[in-house]
Amino acid sequence: MFKKKYVCIVGGAGHIGTPLGLALCSKGYNVILIDKHTENIKKINQGIMPFVEEGCAKLLRKMIKKKKIFATNKLDITKKCKYIIVCLGTPVDNKFNPNLKNFISFFYNLRNHLKKNHIVIIRSSIYPGICNKVFNIIKNHCKNLSYCPERIAQGKSLIELPQISQIISGKSVKARLESGKIFRKICKKIIYTKIIEAELIKLFSNAYRYINFSISNQFYLMCQNQGLDFYKIRNIMRDNYKRNTNIPTAGFTAGPCLLKDTMQLSSFYRHKFSLLSSAMSINEGLPKFMFKKLNEKYNLKNKTIGILGLSFKSENDDIRDSLSIKLLKYIKSKKIKTLQSDEYYKDKNNIDKNTVVKKSDIIIIATPHKAYKKMRISKNKILVDIWGLIEKK
Ligand SMILES: NC(=O)c1ccc[n+]([C@@H]2O[C@H](COP(=O)([O-])OP(=O)(O)OC[C@H]3O[C@@H](n4cnc5c(N)ncnc54)[C@H](O)[C@@H]3O)[C@@H](O)[C@H]2O)c1
Repeated sequence: MFKKKYVCIVGGAGHIGTPLGLALCSKGYNVILIDKHTENIKKINQGIMPFVEEGCAKLLRKMIKKKKIFATNKLDITKKCKYIIVCLGTPVDNKFNPNLKNFISFFYNLRNHLKKNHIVIIRSSIYPGICNKVFNIIKNHCKNLSYCPERIAQGKSLIELPQISQIISGKSVKARLESGKIFRKICKKIIYTKIIEAELIKLFSNAYRYINFSISNQFYLMCQNQGLDFYKIRNIMRDNYKRNTNIPTAGFTAGPCLLKDTMQLSSFYRHKFSLLSSAMSINEGLPKFMFKKLNEKYNLKNKTIGILGLSFKSENDDIRDSLSIKLLKYIKSKKIKTLQSDEYYKDKNNIDKNTVVKKSDIIIIATPHKAYKKMRISKNKILVDIWGLIEKK
């Protein structure tokens, strides 16, 4: 017999699973994080966060001490828990179609452990229609399947979870009500939708952001080609002109979600939604464009290029699908000397940011970590500041 206040999170040692588990146990639930990542399981059980996520390190230490949370690789422990929340990865393949092998085969395993009163909640960002597919796999064992997409920005889970409206959809009334019950404890507002609506809300949200960033990136490219300052133009566009206030900065739009979810949506539309693929070409094309521009202007052969920031976003250590890393690899492939630094991501080749600046001819701010904002970069260095991070004196 499972216990009501017990929640299992599969993919629990991941970037979505761990913070969600911590948020739930801070509200009185007992949480079991199920994962196959042995090293991260070990770290979590020692009270060590495996990655950077604001506020989680302290909360994890506290919850481990109180024995409210632990991690394991044993799937049969689901028999203890009423709720099973699935936060597995949902990658795309090299043709930008969903690669659901691992995700789907997990449910074939899970169904052997399911009882009819379990509440199974999918939290991952999924290709539209996948909930129905999963339901067909598990329905003879359990019919309570919900889809409640995660919508936080990585690094800000604990701050954003209580603020964001939670979308809840499900195959049965019981699944919807029970999911509402658990998420009401950690979220401000619950909105019930159909499953297909919830699936699209998640993908539309990420695709919308991805396209928005690509617009600024395209403007930035145009300014570079004209020898103009994008940030001067952007500032004037926004000055006393409300309609333009939300124009994002340019920058490396990267990470494990935005591109992937835009491509899931594109695949759903048989890759005929050209705005999505154009956004991808612009955003993913930035590192090569940047290199080409520098190469046209300077003789890079004898130059040292310093990269400041390697993670895919600021104040984070995650390098998944980082364009800073892609840029670094591209420059290296051209046999040009590079130096690298990051404030969060650890790598044996990293050196201190000030040494990078001192020893490089060209400095590229690839990730806008706050620590770079006040750096003094002498006028005789070439600075590439795509994010417009460093204030001009
Ligand atoms: N990272 C984000 O900011 C974010 C935000 C919203 C939604 N999402 C979505 O959430 C999902 C998870 O993303 P993530 O960033 O947490 O990924 P992640 O790779 O950090 O976490 C996935 C975890 O699942 C584990 N895992 C893989 N296969 C397993 C299996 N068969 N059994 C048990 N554990 C297994 C992995 O070891 C990993 O720890 C994706 O669909 C993603 O699109 C992510």
